[in-house]
Amino acid sequence: MVKTVKFSNGDQMPMLGFGTWVSAPRNICHTFKRAIAAGSRSLGLGKGLIAPGDVYGAVKYAIAAGYRHIDCAHIYGNEAKVGLALADSFKEGIVSREQMWITSKLWNDSHAPEDVQPALEQTLSNLQLDYLDLYLIHWPIAMKKESSDSLTADQLISLNDLPILTTWKAMESLVEKGVCRHIGVSNFSIAKLQNLLDNAQLKPELNQIELHPYLQQPSMLEFCNENNIHLTGYSPLGSADRPASLKTANEPILLEEPTIAAIAKRHGITSAQVLLSWAMQRGTVVIPKSFNPKRICQNLASADVILTPEDMQTIANLNLNRRYVDGAFWQVPGGPYTVENIWDL
Ligand code: A2P
Repeated sequence: MVKTVKFSNGDQMPMLGFGTWVSAPRNICHTFKRAIAAGSRSLGLGKGLIAPGDVYGAVKYAIAAGYRHIDCAHIYGNEAKVGLALADSFKEGIVSREQMWITSKLWNDSHAPEDVQPALEQTLSNLQLDYLDLYLIHWPIAMKKESSDSLTADQLISLNDLPILTTWKAMESLVEKGVCRHIGVSNFSIAKLQNLLDNAQLKPELNQIELHPYLQQPSMLEFCNENNIHLTGYSPLGSADRPASLKTANEPILLEEPTIAAIAKRHGITSAQVLLSWAMQRGTVVIPKSFNPKRICQNLASADVILTPEDMQTIANLNLNRRYVDGAFWQVPGGPYTVENIWDL
Protein backbone atom coordinates (compact mmCIF):
# COMPACT_ATOMS: atom_id res chain seq x y z
CA MET A 1 0.00 0.00 0.00
CA VAL A 2 1.27 3.47 -0.85
CA LYS A 3 1.95 5.54 2.27
CA THR A 4 1.14 9.25 2.40
CA VAL A 5 2.77 12.42 3.67
CA LYS A 6 0.54 14.66 5.73
CA PHE A 7 0.04 18.40 5.35
CA SER A 8 -0.74 20.67 8.29
CA ASN A 9 -4.45 20.87 7.33
CA GLY A 10 -4.66 17.06 7.41
CA ASP A 11 -4.53 16.52 3.62
CA GLN A 12 -2.54 13.45 2.59
CA MET A 13 -0.41 13.13 -0.52
CA PRO A 14 0.48 9.62 -1.76
CA MET A 15 4.25 9.11 -1.58
CA LEU A 16 4.30 7.43 -4.95
CA GLY A 17 2.98 9.42 -7.88
CA PHE A 18 2.98 9.05 -11.64
CA GLY A 19 5.26 11.45 -13.56
CA THR A 20 4.12 12.83 -16.92
CA TRP A 21 7.21 14.61 -18.25
CA VAL A 22 7.73 13.19 -21.72
CA SER A 23 10.80 14.57 -23.35
CA ALA A 24 11.99 14.96 -26.90
CA PRO A 25 15.46 15.83 -28.15
CA ARG A 26 14.96 19.58 -28.41
CA ASN A 27 15.79 22.75 -26.55
CA ILE A 28 14.43 22.55 -22.99
CA CYS A 29 11.99 25.43 -23.47
CA HIS A 30 10.41 23.89 -26.53
CA THR A 31 10.90 20.23 -25.80
CA PHE A 32 7.77 19.74 -23.81
CA LYS A 33 5.32 21.79 -25.83
CA ARG A 34 5.65 19.99 -29.08
CA ALA A 35 6.64 16.50 -28.09
CA ILE A 36 3.35 15.05 -27.07
CA ALA A 37 1.37 15.30 -30.27
CA ALA A 38 1.52 11.53 -30.60
CA GLY A 39 -0.54 10.97 -27.51
CA SER A 40 -4.01 10.48 -28.92
CA ARG A 41 -4.20 6.72 -29.20
CA SER A 42 -5.18 4.78 -26.14
CA LEU A 43 -5.00 1.04 -26.08
CA GLY A 44 -7.07 -1.15 -23.82
CA LEU A 45 -5.69 -2.11 -20.46
CA GLY A 46 -6.44 -5.72 -21.29
CA LYS A 47 -3.98 -5.62 -24.15
CA GLY A 48 -1.32 -4.31 -21.81
CA LEU A 49 0.02 -1.92 -24.42
CA ILE A 50 0.64 1.80 -24.41
CA ALA A 51 1.80 3.52 -27.59
CA PRO A 52 5.04 5.50 -27.32
CA GLY A 53 4.25 8.99 -26.07
CA ASP A 54 0.62 8.11 -25.33
CA VAL A 55 0.16 10.13 -22.18
CA TYR A 56 -3.60 9.51 -22.14
CA GLY A 57 -3.06 5.74 -22.24
CA ALA A 58 -0.29 5.81 -19.65
CA VAL A 59 -2.22 7.93 -17.13
CA LYS A 60 -5.40 5.91 -17.63
CA TYR A 61 -3.45 2.70 -17.14
CA ALA A 62 -1.67 4.06 -14.07
CA ILE A 63 -4.95 5.10 -12.43
CA ALA A 64 -6.52 1.72 -13.15
CA ALA A 65 -3.40 0.06 -11.73
CA GLY A 66 -3.84 2.00 -8.48
CA TYR A 67 -1.85 5.27 -8.73
CA ARG A 68 -3.67 8.05 -6.91
CA HIS A 69 -1.19 10.88 -7.50
CA ILE A 70 -0.35 12.40 -10.89
CA ASP A 71 2.43 14.94 -11.34
CA CYS A 72 1.85 17.40 -14.19
CA ALA A 73 3.18 20.72 -15.48
CA HIS A 74 1.97 23.26 -18.01
CA ILE A 75 5.27 23.12 -19.90
CA TYR A 76 5.01 19.37 -20.46
CA GLY A 77 2.44 20.35 -23.09
CA ASN A 78 0.25 17.34 -22.35
CA GLU A 79 -2.13 18.47 -19.61
CA ALA A 80 -5.13 18.15 -21.93
CA LYS A 81 -4.25 14.47 -22.45
CA VAL A 82 -3.87 13.96 -18.72
CA GLY A 83 -7.17 15.79 -18.21
CA LEU A 84 -8.94 13.46 -20.63
CA ALA A 85 -7.54 10.41 -18.84
CA LEU A 86 -8.71 11.84 -15.51
CA ALA A 87 -12.17 12.72 -16.86
CA ASP A 88 -12.63 9.26 -18.38
CA SER A 89 -11.43 7.57 -15.20
CA PHE A 90 -13.94 9.61 -13.16
CA LYS A 91 -16.73 8.92 -15.67
CA GLU A 92 -16.04 5.19 -15.68
CA GLY A 93 -16.14 5.12 -11.89
CA ILE A 94 -12.55 3.89 -11.56
CA VAL A 95 -11.77 6.64 -9.11
CA SER A 96 -13.27 9.90 -7.83
CA ARG A 97 -11.71 13.37 -7.94
CA GLU A 98 -11.38 13.35 -4.16
CA GLN A 99 -9.34 10.15 -4.27
CA MET A 100 -6.76 11.69 -6.60
CA TRP A 101 -3.87 14.01 -5.77
CA ILE A 102 -3.06 16.28 -8.72
CA THR A 103 0.02 18.50 -8.81
CA SER A 104 0.91 20.99 -11.53
CA LYS A 105 3.48 23.75 -12.01
CA LEU A 106 3.57 27.41 -13.00
CA TRP A 107 5.85 27.95 -15.98
CA ASN A 108 8.66 30.51 -15.98
CA ASP A 109 6.88 32.81 -18.43
CA SER A 110 3.99 33.41 -16.03
CA HIS A 111 5.83 34.72 -12.95
CA ALA A 112 4.38 38.23 -13.25
CA PRO A 113 1.68 38.44 -10.56
CA GLU A 114 -1.09 39.21 -13.06
CA ASP A 115 -0.15 36.08 -15.05
CA VAL A 116 -0.27 33.58 -12.17
CA GLN A 117 -4.01 33.05 -11.84
CA PRO A 118 -4.63 32.90 -15.62
CA ALA A 119 -1.84 30.28 -15.83
CA LEU A 120 -3.50 28.15 -13.17
CA GLU A 121 -6.89 28.60 -14.85
CA GLN A 122 -5.41 27.37 -18.14
CA THR A 123 -3.98 24.32 -16.36
CA LEU A 124 -7.32 23.63 -14.64
CA SER A 125 -9.13 23.93 -17.95
CA ASN A 126 -6.67 21.55 -19.63
CA LEU A 127 -6.91 19.08 -16.77
CA GLN A 128 -10.73 19.44 -16.65
CA LEU A 129 -10.53 20.14 -12.91
CA ASP A 130 -11.85 22.89 -10.69
CA TYR A 131 -9.00 22.78 -8.19
CA LEU A 132 -5.45 21.45 -7.90
CA ASP A 133 -4.14 19.71 -4.82
CA LEU A 134 -0.75 21.32 -5.23
CA TYR A 135 0.63 24.10 -7.45
CA LEU A 136 4.38 24.68 -7.65
CA ILE A 137 6.61 27.42 -9.06
CA HIS A 138 8.43 25.21 -11.59
CA TRP A 139 11.85 26.95 -11.54
CA PRO A 140 13.34 29.98 -9.75
CA ILE A 141 13.69 31.43 -13.25
CA ALA A 142 11.59 34.19 -14.79
CA MET A 143 11.22 34.70 -18.50
CA LYS A 144 9.13 36.54 -21.06
CA LYS A 145 6.54 34.66 -23.09
CA GLU A 146 8.38 32.35 -25.47
CA SER A 147 9.06 33.85 -28.84
CA SER A 148 11.79 31.93 -30.58
CA ASP A 149 13.18 28.43 -30.74
CA SER A 150 16.40 29.03 -28.85
CA LEU A 151 16.73 30.72 -25.49
CA THR A 152 18.49 34.10 -25.51
CA ALA A 153 19.41 36.50 -22.71
CA ASP A 154 16.72 39.01 -23.68
CA GLN A 155 14.02 36.40 -23.04
CA LEU A 156 15.09 35.99 -19.43
CA ILE A 157 14.09 38.29 -16.57
CA SER A 158 16.37 38.60 -13.56
CA LEU A 159 14.94 37.74 -10.13
CA ASN A 160 15.97 41.26 -9.09
CA ASP A 161 13.45 42.62 -11.59
CA LEU A 162 10.75 40.03 -10.90
CA PRO A 163 11.41 38.63 -7.43
CA ILE A 164 10.14 35.20 -6.43
CA LEU A 165 8.36 36.83 -3.50
CA THR A 166 6.19 38.83 -5.93
CA THR A 167 5.22 35.62 -7.73
CA TRP A 168 4.72 33.86 -4.39
CA LYS A 169 2.19 36.47 -3.18
CA ALA A 170 0.10 35.72 -6.28
CA MET A 171 0.45 31.99 -5.51
CA GLU A 172 -0.81 32.65 -1.96
CA SER A 173 -3.94 34.31 -3.27
CA LEU A 174 -4.77 31.14 -5.25
CA VAL A 175 -5.06 29.21 -2.00
CA GLU A 176 -7.32 31.91 -0.56
CA LYS A 177 -9.52 31.61 -3.66
CA GLY A 178 -9.74 27.83 -3.26
CA VAL A 179 -8.41 27.00 -6.74
CA CYS A 180 -5.50 25.09 -5.26
CA ARG A 181 -5.21 23.51 -1.84
CA HIS A 182 -1.44 23.77 -1.36
CA ILE A 183 1.43 25.74 -2.87
CA GLY A 184 5.09 24.99 -3.14
CA VAL A 185 8.15 25.28 -5.34
CA SER A 186 10.43 23.19 -7.50
CA ASN A 187 14.18 23.35 -8.08
CA PHE A 188 14.64 25.68 -5.10
CA SER A 189 17.87 25.79 -3.07
CA ILE A 190 17.91 26.00 0.73
CA ALA A 191 18.69 29.75 0.49
CA LYS A 192 15.69 30.37 -1.76
CA LEU A 193 13.44 28.33 0.54
CA GLN A 194 14.73 30.31 3.53
CA ASN A 195 13.89 33.56 1.76
CA LEU A 196 10.30 32.39 1.36
CA LEU A 197 10.10 31.10 4.94
CA ASP A 198 11.33 34.48 6.19
CA ASN A 199 8.97 36.60 4.11
CA ALA A 200 5.94 34.64 2.99
CA GLN A 201 2.53 34.66 4.58
CA LEU A 202 1.87 31.06 3.54
CA LYS A 203 4.99 28.90 3.85
CA PRO A 204 6.00 26.72 0.91
CA GLU A 205 4.75 23.25 1.83
CA LEU A 206 6.80 21.26 -0.67
CA ASN A 207 9.92 21.49 -2.81
CA GLN A 208 10.17 19.22 -5.86
CA ILE A 209 13.80 18.55 -6.74
CA GLU A 210 15.98 15.95 -8.37
CA LEU A 211 16.68 13.20 -5.83
CA HIS A 212 18.20 9.74 -6.21
CA PRO A 213 21.19 7.83 -4.78
CA TYR A 214 23.66 9.77 -6.97
CA LEU A 215 22.14 13.10 -5.77
CA GLN A 216 20.96 12.56 -2.20
CA GLN A 217 21.00 16.21 -1.04
CA PRO A 218 21.25 15.35 2.69
CA SER A 219 21.34 18.99 3.87
CA MET A 220 18.21 19.79 1.86
CA LEU A 221 16.48 16.77 3.43
CA GLU A 222 17.50 17.91 6.91
CA PHE A 223 16.46 21.52 6.25
CA CYS A 224 13.07 20.47 4.91
CA ASN A 225 12.46 18.08 7.81
CA GLU A 226 13.24 20.89 10.26
CA ASN A 227 10.91 23.31 8.49
CA ASN A 228 7.96 21.02 7.73
CA ILE A 229 8.54 21.17 3.99
CA HIS A 230 7.85 17.95 2.09
CA LEU A 231 10.22 16.86 -0.65
CA THR A 232 9.26 15.23 -3.93
CA GLY A 233 12.09 13.64 -5.90
CA TYR A 234 12.02 13.82 -9.66
CA SER A 235 14.14 11.61 -11.92
CA PRO A 236 14.18 8.91 -9.19
CA LEU A 237 15.31 6.32 -11.74
CA GLY A 238 17.95 8.53 -13.32
CA SER A 239 15.69 9.84 -16.08
CA ALA A 240 17.31 7.89 -18.90
CA ASP A 241 14.67 9.21 -21.31
CA ARG A 242 15.46 12.90 -20.83
CA PRO A 243 16.49 14.94 -23.89
CA ALA A 244 19.92 14.18 -25.35
CA SER A 245 20.78 17.87 -24.81
CA LEU A 246 20.65 17.21 -21.06
CA LYS A 247 23.01 14.25 -21.20
CA THR A 248 26.78 14.12 -20.99
CA ALA A 249 29.18 11.52 -22.32
CA ASN A 250 30.02 8.68 -19.94
CA GLU A 251 27.53 9.75 -17.28
CA PRO A 252 26.79 7.13 -14.61
CA ILE A 253 23.60 5.19 -15.35
CA LEU A 254 21.65 4.83 -12.15
CA LEU A 255 19.60 1.82 -13.21
CA GLU A 256 22.87 0.00 -13.97
CA GLU A 257 24.49 0.73 -10.59
CA PRO A 258 25.94 -2.61 -9.40
CA THR A 259 25.36 -1.89 -5.70
CA ILE A 260 21.67 -1.26 -6.34
CA ALA A 261 21.49 -4.37 -8.53
CA ALA A 262 23.04 -6.47 -5.74
CA ILE A 263 20.47 -5.23 -3.20
CA ALA A 264 17.69 -5.89 -5.73
CA LYS A 265 18.95 -9.43 -6.28
CA ARG A 266 19.01 -10.14 -2.56
CA HIS A 267 15.38 -9.03 -2.19
CA GLY A 268 14.22 -10.67 -5.43
CA ILE A 269 13.10 -7.31 -6.85
CA THR A 270 14.32 -4.94 -9.59
CA SER A 271 16.80 -2.07 -9.31
CA ALA A 272 13.99 0.40 -10.02
CA GLN A 273 12.06 -0.95 -7.05
CA VAL A 274 15.10 -0.52 -4.80
CA LEU A 275 15.47 3.11 -5.94
CA LEU A 276 11.82 3.96 -5.34
CA SER A 277 11.59 2.16 -2.05
CA TRP A 278 14.81 3.88 -0.84
CA ALA A 279 13.28 7.27 -1.64
CA MET A 280 10.06 6.55 0.23
CA GLN A 281 11.90 5.10 3.22
CA ARG A 282 13.80 8.41 3.47
CA GLY A 283 10.40 10.12 3.78
CA THR A 284 10.45 11.63 0.29
CA VAL A 285 7.73 11.42 -2.35
CA VAL A 286 8.67 9.90 -5.75
CA ILE A 287 7.16 10.39 -9.20
CA PRO A 288 8.65 7.79 -11.57
CA LYS A 289 7.39 7.79 -15.13
CA SER A 290 6.91 4.88 -17.45
CA PHE A 291 5.00 4.09 -20.62
CA ASN A 292 5.39 0.38 -20.08
CA PRO A 293 2.43 -1.33 -18.34
CA LYS A 294 4.61 -3.92 -16.64
CA ARG A 295 6.96 -1.27 -15.28
CA ILE A 296 4.06 1.01 -14.26
CA CYS A 297 2.82 -1.87 -12.04
CA GLN A 298 6.31 -2.81 -10.92
CA ASN A 299 6.98 0.75 -9.78
CA LEU A 300 3.72 0.85 -7.84
CA ALA A 301 4.61 -2.43 -6.13
CA SER A 302 7.80 -0.82 -4.79
CA ALA A 303 5.55 0.76 -2.14
CA ASP A 304 5.47 -2.66 -0.44
CA VAL A 305 9.25 -3.20 -0.48
CA ILE A 306 11.07 -2.91 2.84
CA LEU A 307 14.81 -2.26 2.69
CA THR A 308 16.97 -3.06 5.71
CA PRO A 309 18.90 -0.38 7.63
CA GLU A 310 22.06 -1.93 6.12
CA ASP A 311 20.62 -1.50 2.60
CA MET A 312 19.81 2.15 3.40
CA GLN A 313 23.35 2.73 4.68
CA THR A 314 24.91 1.04 1.67
CA ILE A 315 22.87 3.29 -0.63
CA ALA A 316 23.76 6.38 1.44
CA ASN A 317 27.39 5.71 0.47
CA LEU A 318 26.60 6.01 -3.25
CA ASN A 319 26.08 9.78 -3.22
CA LEU A 320 28.02 11.52 -6.00
CA ASN A 321 26.28 14.93 -5.82
CA ARG A 322 25.58 14.27 -9.48
CA ARG A 323 22.75 16.19 -11.12
CA TYR A 324 21.22 14.82 -14.30
CA VAL A 325 19.17 18.05 -14.69
CA ASP A 326 21.76 20.66 -13.78
CA GLY A 327 20.01 23.83 -14.96
CA ALA A 328 22.87 24.73 -17.32
CA PHE A 329 20.26 25.25 -20.05
CA TRP A 330 19.26 28.49 -18.27
CA GLN A 331 22.79 29.81 -18.49
CA VAL A 332 23.01 31.80 -21.72
CA PRO A 333 25.59 34.47 -22.65
CA GLY A 334 24.69 37.81 -21.08
CA GLY A 335 21.74 36.29 -19.20
CA PRO A 336 21.00 36.66 -15.47
CA TYR A 337 21.18 32.97 -14.55
CA THR A 338 24.15 30.72 -13.87
CA VAL A 339 24.34 27.21 -12.49
CA GLU A 340 25.88 28.81 -9.37
CA ASN A 341 23.11 31.34 -8.76
CA ILE A 342 20.31 28.87 -9.55
CA TRP A 343 21.46 26.38 -6.90
CA ASP A 344 23.17 29.01 -4.69
CA LEU A 345 26.47 27.12 -4.79
P1 A2P B 1 9.76 3.22 -19.86
O1 A2P B 1 8.75 4.30 -20.11
O2 A2P B 1 10.10 2.47 -21.09
O3 A2P B 1 9.37 2.33 -18.70
P2 A2P B 1 12.60 8.81 -14.31
O4 A2P B 1 11.30 8.46 -13.68
O5 A2P B 1 13.78 8.78 -13.40
O6 A2P B 1 12.53 10.10 -15.05
O7 A2P B 1 12.93 7.69 -15.41
C1 A2P B 1 12.07 7.44 -16.49
C2 A2P B 1 12.73 6.40 -17.36
O8 A2P B 1 12.86 5.17 -16.63
C3 A2P B 1 11.95 6.06 -18.61
O9 A2P B 1 12.87 5.90 -19.65
C4 A2P B 1 11.27 4.73 -18.29
O10 A2P B 1 11.13 3.95 -19.46
C5 A2P B 1 12.26 4.10 -17.35
N1 A2P B 1 11.62 3.23 -16.35
C6 A2P B 1 10.51 3.48 -15.64
N2 A2P B 1 10.25 2.48 -14.78
C7 A2P B 1 11.22 1.56 -14.95
C8 A2P B 1 11.49 0.30 -14.37
N3 A2P B 1 10.72 -0.20 -13.42
N4 A2P B 1 12.59 -0.36 -14.79
C9 A2P B 1 13.39 0.14 -15.76
N5 A2P B 1 13.18 1.33 -16.35
C10 A2P B 1 12.10 2.03 -15.96
